[in-house]
Amino acid sequence: MAVLIVNGTREEFDVDPSTPLLWVLREKLALTGTKFGCGIAQCGACTVHVDGDPIRSCNTPFSAVEGKEITTIEGLAPSSEELHPLQTAWIEHQVPQCGYCQSGQLMSAAALLASNPNPDDAAIDSAMRGNICRCGMYGRIRQAIKTSATYYEVASTSELTATAQEVSGE
Ligand code: FES
Ligand code: FES
Repeated sequence: MAVLIVNGTREEFDVDPSTPLLWVLREKLALTGTKFGCGIAQCGACTVHVDGDPIRSCNTPFSAVEGKEITTIEGLAPSSEELHPLQTAWIEHQVPQCGYCQSGQLMSAAALLASNPNPDDAAIDSAMRGNICRCGMYGRIRQAIKTSATYYEVASTSELTATAQEVSGE
């Protein structure tokens, strides 16, 4: 049996090693938030994280990720009660239209913010270049990423304030 850690849970599979990760996620685990678009790594709809890095699951064989940690859109939020900051910003800016590209967009954006919490336009455009939106929501996506970055700033400022209060005994 081959193993993946998917959204924090160990999963065992008996699959052909050449099976694309996308179909393992969708058909073996019923994690259908990750979408099939082009199938040739050109649209980004199938983006998931492997050990924190965004990859196109449509053309990534199972053998290439065996034993690794996979995060899908279903595992992006910290808990069932709390959204990821990007998801909150996505709602605020009403980014999704048809919605088909959106899980891939969010996973690429999440990887960007994990490595660069305050990206400028160039960094956003570079990180998101491979994610196609047929509804043309690129402007809202960029704005939502920037809004999400401000949530991180607010959070880190709050943490610093709380730490300072702890240190000073307030
Ligand atoms: S479906 Fe994977 S990049 Fe398009
Ligand atoms: S929201 Fe429709 S393709 Fe992006």
